[in-house]
Amino acid sequence: MDLATMSLYIEEDAEYVSQTAPPPKRRVVEEAHGCTVTMADGTEYLDLIAGISVNSVGAANPEVAAAVKEQVDKLTHAMVFGVYVVPVQVDTAKLLAQITGPNLQQTFFTNSGTEAIEGTLKLARKYTGRKKLLTMERGFHGRTFGSLSVTWREVYRKPYEPLVPMVEFIPFSDIKAAEQAIDDETAGVIIEPIQSEGGVRVPDDEYMPRLRELCTERGALLIFDEVQTGLGRTGKWFCGEHWDVWPDVLALGKAIGGGLPMGAFMSSREILSTFYKPSKSHITTFGGNAVVCAASKAAIEFMIREKLPDNAAERGKQMTEGLRALQQRFPFIKDVRGKGLLIGLELDDAGRTERFSNEAEERGVLLGWSMYAEATVRLAPPLIITAEQIDKGLSIIEEALSAVS
Ligand SMILES: Cc1ncc(COP(=O)(O)O)c(C=O)c1O
Repeated sequence: MDLATMSLYIEEDAEYVSQTAPPPKRRVVEEAHGCTVTMADGTEYLDLIAGISVNSVGAANPEVAAAVKEQVDKLTHAMVFGVYVVPVQVDTAKLLAQITGPNLQQTFFTNSGTEAIEGTLKLARKYTGRKKLLTMERGFHGRTFGSLSVTWREVYRKPYEPLVPMVEFIPFSDIKAAEQAIDDETAGVIIEPIQSEGGVRVPDDEYMPRLRELCTERGALLIFDEVQTGLGRTGKWFCGEHWDVWPDVLALGKAIGGGLPMGAFMSSREILSTFYKPSKSHITTFGGNAVVCAASKAAIEFMIREKLPDNAAERGKQMTEGLRALQQRFPFIKDVRGKGLLIGLELDDAGRTERFSNEAEERGVLLGWSMYAEATVRLAPPLIITAEQIDKGLSIIEEALSAVS
């Protein structure tokens, strides 16, 4: 694309597209394949954020692309829930049931992560007949009214109040707080097993098993928001597996669509059957759309065959060890934390973090930010990333750290 056309796109983006981050944006993206994003001026970047944990199977994965093309020619959309059986939807749900815990047998498909969260909250209230929802400080679950109601940061919540009532926030990874807060009025406890937007915060090892026990003892549904941590990202298929914990309800999004917009929530047949009474108690037009399911099925099959959770564990170890080695040389690195390929790199202040990200981008590496932790850079590359690409990323990160030291 020539420079004049690029400049025009930048201008017209600010004029016609409603985005909530301030213009001007600096780059016009043209293509993305695997772990490489190519801008319209031909500049290539190593992608260490994957469109915020989306492109786990690599951008424009050829198997996903082929499945989508085939499906588009056959069936794009039909009435889904309760009218027709859509084979590709059944195949996708069956695959999901095979890779999750034995209690998570059924899937309700949605179009995004936030819609999956809406479904989980409604399910908890309807199934238990209780009202109270517990959620975590520094947690993030989305921006629609229900998910925003269980999302922590005041600045994002306040302008939209009143939100969903009977929501209580407790500190993350604090067993005593959970023991005090969960009672026989609690419908559900929603938690990210690792808080992603909160700055990649990993709970203490005792926390999740105890939270599981508390929910079981007191009759509240345990809801894991694995929109970001699910499907191999943290080095296990699902993040709760690090502590051998399965929730009653599991929310998924981001990587589940292989790059197409999709979300889902899973639970037992018994719990999900509450939506049958009365019939159609929860429904969506596009959830489980045939084309999106074709993409998802191809992506999950690819993840299984290529053992992407294992690659996330190995490459995550390489990246984390590399960053910890850099911490010895650059004492302004305060912390390196995470699991698998969900890694937080915390510097000593937000200004330096922003300069560092810009320096890395100038040198050809794309990094992510954390919505609630301005000093923390998030790394969440495609799970197909190779050892060589991690080494390349580390050496550019080293140069960018030098530039801001
Ligand atoms: C943990 C978590 N839950 C829910 C969401 C909302 O997903 P979506 O943006 O697809 O609505 C996000 C998005 O970043 C997320 O990180």
